[in-house]
Amino acid sequence: MIVGSTKEDLKSEKRVSLTPETAKNIIALGLKVFIEKDYAKHLGIEDDEYAKIGVEIKASSKEVLNSSKTIIKVNCPSENEISFLKENTILIGMFNPSKNKNQISKIIEKKVKIFSLELLPRITRAQSMDVLSSQSNLAGYRAVVDCIAEFEKAVPMMMTAAGTVPAAKVLVIGAGVAGLQAIATAKRLGAIVSATDVRAASREQVESLGGKFLNVEQTEDMETAGGYAKEASEDYKKKQAIMMQEALKKNDIVICTALIPGKPAPRILTEDLVKLMKPGSIVCDLAAEQGGNSAFSEAGKINIINGIKIIGVKSLMNKLPLTASNLYAKNLFSFIRNLYSKEKKDFNINLEDEIIEKSLIKI
Ligand code: NAI
Repeated sequence: MIVGSTKEDLKSEKRVSLTPETAKNIIALGLKVFIEKDYAKHLGIEDDEYAKIGVEIKASSKEVLNSSKTIIKVNCPSENEISFLKENTILIGMFNPSKNKNQISKIIEKKVKIFSLELLPRITRAQSMDVLSSQSNLAGYRAVVDCIAEFEKAVPMMMTAAGTVPAAKVLVIGAGVAGLQAIATAKRLGAIVSATDVRAASREQVESLGGKFLNVEQTEDMETAGGYAKEASEDYKKKQAIMMQEALKKNDIVICTALIPGKPAPRILTEDLVKLMKPGSIVCDLAAEQGGNSAFSEAGKINIINGIKIIGVKSLMNKLPLTASNLYAKNLFSFIRNLYSKEKKDFNINLEDEIIEKSLIKI
């Protein structure tokens, strides 16, 4: 039984789905592992590092795809790769099914079973496989680092002989996985941090990290049974905008992370709200690729309006591909370990297992 992995399109993706560490773990399950030549060379990991633990290096993606029972990837395979997939192969990755409908239909037509790990249930047993959490956590950290690189002032309070430098103020909108890590990172760097979220349960988490929770009065519970946010009512949006007016005048850096599963990102910062910020302030919109939480945000661009920089985040994981790959590969290994039956010496697609059933793409 072979697990294979091919190179990603390096123009848009620097992460890999298999590290030497996870390859070793997969081999320890009793499986063979094949990769395409120069698989992770761009990350400074030579083929030899994989070969010395028993991974077989193949000259082309075609060879890997033709011989593997299970293929692991970061993104959806290319058209070329899809043409090489064999019937009954299992494909595992993060395939963004709502965006990649065409490719996914083509793959399913080839009788390939596709597991997309963004669809995993947010249950305790699936935590080690939770790709959304592992990558969002890094995104929250990196967003703060990038904002500070763009910010033209110091962040921590400093009392010097030349005078006192005040601490920068950071506001985090959306206190999910990314938001909480952004709060923790900004605190570590010495910022004064506040945060807001529609889910009342997030207050305690924000406060436990030393952030101040900015509450918007609400009459209904805005959290779904799955722990995600509901779309805010018009009344909530009005109250949130009033709260933001004051907060935006005071804060130097705003990190936007608000998302609603299956919907465009909620637009929280209107043009008028953004313009309330001081020149030199930064808005970092992690939701830019999902439509954006902020006006003036465009994925992959920094727009400057009245001296305020609006960073539209795109492909943030390409800025820390080694850490992102290490965590992603570990998530994948946990998923494989759950899918593979050592007794049967085969992959066992047990649809009674919520993890397997929910992550399998059905059309
Ligand atoms: P997400 O990425 O879908 O959204 C980010 C945050 O934006 C959420 O906290 C959401 O409440 C907030 N948000 C949405 N609309 C907003 C608005 N209009 N204004 C302000 N904030 C808004 O969320 P993420 O990070 O994926 O977390 C979702 C939930 O899943 C959380 O409750 C988290 O604690 C839970 N979770 C559970 C895990 C588990 O294994 N049990 C693992 C990871 C997360």
